[in-house]
Amino acid sequence: MLMRAAVIRPGSTEPSVEELEPPMAGAGEVVVGVSCAGINRNDVRAAAAAHELAVPIVPGSDACGTVVAVGDDIIGNVIGRRVVIDPGLDWGDDPRAPADRFEILGYPRPGTHAELVVVPRENVHPAPERLTDAEAAALPLAGVTAWRALVARGELRAGERVLVHGGSGGVATFAVQIAAALGAQVMVTTSSEEKLRAAVELGAEGGVVRQDRWTEELRRHGSFDLVLDSSGADWDQLLPALRRGGRLVALGRTAGDTASIDLHQLFWGQLDIRGTSMGSPQDFVALLDHVASSSWRPVVHEAVPLDMVAAAYRSVEKMGHTGKVVLRIATGGS
Ligand SMILES: NC(=O)c1ccc[n+]([C@@H]2O[C@H](COP(=O)([O-])OP(=O)(O)OC[C@H]3O[C@@H](n4cnc5c(N)ncnc54)[C@H](OP(=O)(O)O)[C@@H]3O)[C@@H](O)[C@H]2O)c1
Repeated sequence: MLMRAAVIRPGSTEPSVEELEPPMAGAGEVVVGVSCAGINRNDVRAAAAAHELAVPIVPGSDACGTVVAVGDDIIGNVIGRRVVIDPGLDWGDDPRAPADRFEILGYPRPGTHAELVVVPRENVHPAPERLTDAEAAALPLAGVTAWRALVARGELRAGERVLVHGGSGGVATFAVQIAAALGAQVMVTTSSEEKLRAAVELGAEGGVVRQDRWTEELRRHGSFDLVLDSSGADWDQLLPALRRGGRLVALGRTAGDTASIDLHQLFWGQLDIRGTSMGSPQDFVALLDHVASSSWRPVVHEAVPLDMVAAAYRSVEKMGHTGKVVLRIATGGS
């Protein structure tokens, strides 16, 4: 039987739903029947850059689903288990940084915006029991990125003051929730009053809406130990917001590929600028442990059927969401 999947074809501008041959598990692999799959900016970017593709791709890095088949060499009974997928492939042995061969599920390896996806056995983990399928599917890529940015790279300690720039995005929303759960005082910048209210409901103590004179308002909130930025914007305002010896962790470039900094602020302020991407297998397990012992839930802005994949990508592109947009791939998932 064929499976349904979102496909981005070279030269197309949007994903379309097609019927494909179902994938088979090779050695060391499992097949996951996808219940729900999160959408990330990576997926949207792949669709926008489809003119650069040499071959069609099935995008998608996040999923919650059930193991439906395994490779011949897989030991133990994993078939039927409800799992989430760690989208980081081949991180390697060094928790400090991934190996050169590191890849994200969904490109080039076929991803989760499909009824079936094949991943290495070590990339599936029990799905958090207290989360619905849609919530669990929202978690992996953005959640592990936020976790590593705060904990492994940001070295966040309870009681510290954290600023999340662009606080409504997928990664940023997890960052607000995780940092608050770890005992930090969290503030955000965001693009509307509505999004600011949402951030406060998720655990932020407050923040500023980026409109006229927002940087003056930000300064009135005092200095921060840690700033998280996924946009690449406003570093001339973010570095002065740090206390001496503070850290800025950069994880994205939504608003631009380059940032300029005042070197005097950097060295006189004894500041650290740290980059981070995704997370190690250890980070992923630590995130799941944290979720199991916490009460916050991933924010699912909307969960839409696979047939609406093109509209869902457009919705993420427009950035009106708070949290994550999720595809419902199988009927009957939670
Ligand atoms: N390094 C990694 O491993 C990794 C992993 C995941 C994502 N990323 C990258 O991180 C970025 C965010 O990803 P995401 O999935 O969280 O995206 P997203 O859900 O689409 O969120 C984007 C958010 O960025 C904020 N933003 C946009 N322009 C901004 C600006 N000029 N200044 C400040 N904030 C701005 C907006 O939030 P407000 O409306 O609240 O301002 C927007 O909602 C992307 O560039 C993505 O590629 C990197």
